[in-house]
Amino acid sequence: MDAQKPLKILQFSAEVTPFAKTGGLADVVGSLPKALRQLGHDVRVVMPRYGRVSPEKFGLQPRAERFPVPLGESSELTTIFEGTIGGGVPVYFVENPRLYDREGIYMYPDDAERFIFFCRAGLELCKQMGWQPDILHCHDWHTAMVPNWMKTIYKDDPFFARTATVYTIHNLAYQGIFGFRVLEIAGVAEQGFIVHPDTADLNQVVDFMARGILFADMINTVSERYAQEILTPEFGERLDPLLRDRRDRLFGILNGIDTEVLNPASDPHIAMNFDVSTLGRRGVNKAALQAEAGLPQLPHVPLIGVISRLADQKGFDLISAIIDPLMRHVECQFVLLGTGEQKYHDMFDRLAKRYPDKMGVFLTFNTPLAQRIYAGSDMFLMPSRFEPCGLGQLIAMRYGSVPVVRATGGLADTVQDYDPRTGVGNGFSFEAYDAMALYTALVRATETYKHSDVWRRLMVRGMKADYSWTASARKYADLYYRALAARAGEHTPAEYDVFKSERVSL
Ligand code: GLC
Repeated sequence: MDAQKPLKILQFSAEVTPFAKTGGLADVVGSLPKALRQLGHDVRVVMPRYGRVSPEKFGLQPRAERFPVPLGESSELTTIFEGTIGGGVPVYFVENPRLYDREGIYMYPDDAERFIFFCRAGLELCKQMGWQPDILHCHDWHTAMVPNWMKTIYKDDPFFARTATVYTIHNLAYQGIFGFRVLEIAGVAEQGFIVHPDTADLNQVVDFMARGILFADMINTVSERYAQEILTPEFGERLDPLLRDRRDRLFGILNGIDTEVLNPASDPHIAMNFDVSTLGRRGVNKAALQAEAGLPQLPHVPLIGVISRLADQKGFDLISAIIDPLMRHVECQFVLLGTGEQKYHDMFDRLAKRYPDKMGVFLTFNTPLAQRIYAGSDMFLMPSRFEPCGLGQLIAMRYGSVPVVRATGGLADTVQDYDPRTGVGNGFSFEAYDAMALYTALVRATETYKHSDVWRRLMVRGMKADYSWTASARKYADLYYRALAARAGEHTPAEYDVFKSERVSL
């Protein structure tokens, strides 16, 4: 295989920035394809057209009208709209009012059917267009039926004879677990449940994530550390036995960020633009953020920013254990933006009232405000229990906010703890998932902040590093060629022998 050959790649995702987003997945699929396009590949994206994706607002054009997509025993018609994420990357929107005309993206009882439908429509669309993809790149559990189909119902389809699949795990904690009925909807009931001796509790359910891992030609996750971690029971979310079986196909590729959009020198949402040579201007952003958060405009008090889903995964149990002593004993301010579990909404409501001069709380989702927090905070806190990659710490560093993180997953791969003896490091990190370890890291950060020359070096180090997609997009291209090679060398499905397929009669 000529490794230079430009590839035709179709990426499947339930969320894509700027159309629909709940987390980092959307940002990745909204930016990685652009970088691949710059390497010369023909990359396209497919996603559902949710009610909120208005054709007028995004200038979408009909692409293929009313063609049938197999679903369960019969089929349903769909119309495909086409838009773009910029940089010449087409996005295909699968329409189906019954399935997608809803307020939100997730958490509906028919989610399995909703995500099965848009994936199947994406495959059928390729045929409609006569566009034969080399790679089907699937993101997270919502799209995991695609690799499963390629090894079952599309196995002998000449159109996909040379098409390989890549499956990217963004977060192993969300697996998409359903009953047998979804296999009928997907048209793979014949093959039945997947039986694996070491995941016995999953043998009588359909776990989408497990199927992606099992059937994809290549698998990756979004940092090297997390790719190692998920091989262990502690991080494996019960799928570590499967991942260990497939470890020869499992890679870690660190996410990048969209450095054109996320650029403090041109960001239209912040009070004053700045770069490494005009760092003095950054203070204007801090003052503006303090005003926006209703905090006193004290230039020398360290301001800690948090932008996060309010969930245990993100370390809020640790934060809740230390926040009162931090507010009482450490001179600092704290600004939080995010939504999530009710108990944390209540907690931050109470804290904002208790410490009005130190704590600014925004319990909402707001991208421009997020950028003002990156630009105006001095340090950026991410004490995650686990973190596949994490994008916040990368954006924070680009904007000169110094990360304070737990050393796990992508956080461990991108933040090196500052060592005052050697001067090495670009942030602060702690190992044990423990409230005292977090507290100590924050005290070290706020003490170091008092040495403005040292602090400036840390800021500059972060701002000068390269977090663009350039390097990682090359690694994805490499993974695609590996997937094609694996696909081409495949004779029998013998490699799946460990997963004895069991026919189920209901
Ligand atoms: C998930 C992970 C996060 C990662 C993102 C994009 O949201 O929790 O760590 O950065 O996906 O890959």
